[in-house]
Amino acid sequence: MSAKILRGRILSFNDAPKARDDHQCYSFIEDGALLVEGGKIIARGVFDEIKAKAYDDVEVIDHRPHIIMAGFIDMHIHFPQMQVLGSYAGSLLEWLNTYTFIEEQRFGDAAHAQKIAGYFYDEMLRHGTTTAVAYCSVHPQSVDAYFEEALKRNMLMLGGKVMMDREAPQALTDTPQSSYDDSKALIEKWHGKGRNHYAITPRFAITSTPEQLEMAGALAREFSHLHVQTHLSENHAEIEFTKSLYPERKDYFDIYQHYGLTGEKSLFGHCIHLEDRERDAMIETGSVAVFCPTSNLFIGSGLFDRARVAGPDGKGRIAIATDVGGGTNYSMLRTLDEGYKILNLQGQRMNPLTSFYQITLGNARALSLEAKIGTLDVGTDADVVVLNANATKAMQVRMETVTTLEEELFLLQTAGDDRAIVETYVAGEALKAAL
Ligand code: GUN
Ligand code: ZN
Repeated sequence: MSAKILRGRILSFNDAPKARDDHQCYSFIEDGALLVEGGKIIARGVFDEIKAKAYDDVEVIDHRPHIIMAGFIDMHIHFPQMQVLGSYAGSLLEWLNTYTFIEEQRFGDAAHAQKIAGYFYDEMLRHGTTTAVAYCSVHPQSVDAYFEEALKRNMLMLGGKVMMDREAPQALTDTPQSSYDDSKALIEKWHGKGRNHYAITPRFAITSTPEQLEMAGALAREFSHLHVQTHLSENHAEIEFTKSLYPERKDYFDIYQHYGLTGEKSLFGHCIHLEDRERDAMIETGSVAVFCPTSNLFIGSGLFDRARVAGPDGKGRIAIATDVGGGTNYSMLRTLDEGYKILNLQGQRMNPLTSFYQITLGNARALSLEAKIGTLDVGTDADVVVLNANATKAMQVRMETVTTLEEELFLLQTAGDDRAIVETYVAGEALKAAL
């Protein structure tokens, strides 16, 4: 891991944009450079100055005229659903029962899990995603495959075994005790190994008995530094069914609150149809709502109301994710594009600076991991993407009329996909070109 300089147009956010033309929230260096060594960013600045400070024989990788920014972060994805993507179903529960709960059974086979894990990480890198937060299957061997592969590629990944003990085929269910024991063993095996982070993962309230959520809460108390992830308020039928299973609770979010599963490390996928109390309680507890645009459109779940979830003071914590295989694309650029459309329909267009802030520093903050990932700040991990806004003929034609950075970013999100990702660096190593 010798030192290298990445030369290009360097963009890094330092805060959430306050307005469309907020130029204080980012740093942009037209002929910039990153000095990278030992997996970290050692220096960032104007190329000539960085070069002058480095050893004469330092390798320089010239990415001009491309944009260099922090690697993308996908806040919610299902690793065992690569072969579910694009399954034809009318609603969430039908989609789960007809395809997903069938496919996930195959991950009891360690060899299958390992094969898919290889494909999964290839897609992450191809699409510029350097960190993801994944649901594995109920089987511990799926978690082993997931983290083993992360370790091989030295990626900072989060994930966990789904805990599910009812409302699914028997081959896909555990028990309250086995889910506790297996999760604990996996935490001890994987959390902190390489760059791996274990996330406690009760799938959602429908597939967990109260006894299992009790156990998930016990894990969350015992390992309070770990993230918790689950699903919340995605679809009307799901919400009604959930309430019927937990009639003593005030609402869907109250179920998770009751079992100690909410808080600043808790990530809730979807949050589309929240009641006022749920929204307020999410903000009060610092829980994170994860917006999954391509999934919400594909499964027909509804339109995420970002302004409402953010709350009147904007304090609601929000992240964005693909949710493959409910989601339809691994690309965070495609995700931004569909997210823009969902918000535009509600008069809430997200501006381009905010979009790129969200998939980098915004998501890193939602994980409380901004000291390590999400920026190109000195001392952080060298997880980096290189973006080409001229990646296709259609983009080249449009780029002829683009004059500002914001326009270029907006074109990248509107027309870009994996072809716009020139290179993906993980801890300073270029991994996309080798795929
Ligand atoms: N709710 C519970 N499990 C799932 C899942 O796998 N995908 C989606 N989109 N929603 C869920
Ligand atoms: Zn999901």
